[in-house]
Amino acid sequence: MHLLGSRTTLRRPSVIVAGLAALLVLTACAAEPPAAQPTASESPSPAPPPPSEPAPQPSFDKAALSIDDPASLWVVSNKQRPLDPVDFAPTDLVVPEEVGNEFAQPLREPAARAAEDLIGAAAAAGHDVWIISAYRDYATQVALYAGYVERDGAEAADRYSARPGHSEHQTGLVIDLDDHGACYLDGCFGDTAAGAWLAEHAAEYGYIIRYPEGKEAVTGFMPEPWHFRFVGTDLALEMRATAVTTLEEFFGLPAAPGYTD
Ligand code: DAL
Ligand code: ZN
Repeated sequence: MHLLGSRTTLRRPSVIVAGLAALLVLTACAAEPPAAQPTASESPSPAPPPPSEPAPQPSFDKAALSIDDPASLWVVSNKQRPLDPVDFAPTDLVVPEEVGNEFAQPLREPAARAAEDLIGAAAAAGHDVWIISAYRDYATQVALYAGYVERDGAEAADRYSARPGHSEHQTGLVIDLDDHGACYLDGCFGDTAAGAWLAEHAAEYGYIIRYPEGKEAVTGFMPEPWHFRFVGTDLALEMRATAVTTLEEFFGLPAAPGYTD
């Protein structure tokens, strides 16, 4: 049988001292006089209610992810911020499933899963959306940009095609979308029912329109209502809630209207 008494006989002196000290503290507390009770005539009037203040909102941590690391979901690539290294290639590319994909191009895994959800939701809302461009590696962007320069000249090409090492497509976090209509890679895509639905709902799937209307002086590129960049739902919803439409403005980066080199 377990005997408390037998344990007492084994206690070390330090334990006994500590026990005595605790007893003294308790005794001292018990010896304090009781707090005076107000009489009926002294009863204080009820305290006024505290002023109503808005509940504190948790602040968004803009440093939660890197904007410099090309493998970060928040990487900011523009004419002033080349990918580092310029020939960066992601390691988690997969081809999105169950969605139209003109050239069967892959995306980084989280962007691919979100694209499946976004395009699925668009379909459920009646919009026949498919992917017309996704990941492009450095060499592909070299050929693409050179072709545009040959066709339109460098000044014009620089308004709609990124130089190699500066394209977000090289991060594997971008989809260009289309609705099988007449606005393929055209500014009028934003006026289509599908384009309008995507602009309204993309943030719920972690995507933003990266080159919005009226921001060419900030982003360096003409409006591209078809070019959706995955940044994750935390950032995309925060940008939507605060009505900040470019990554440059959200992160307090300098505008990037042109190249330095
Ligand atoms: N069209 C965009 C700017 C790109 O070339 O990445
Ligand atoms: Zn694009």
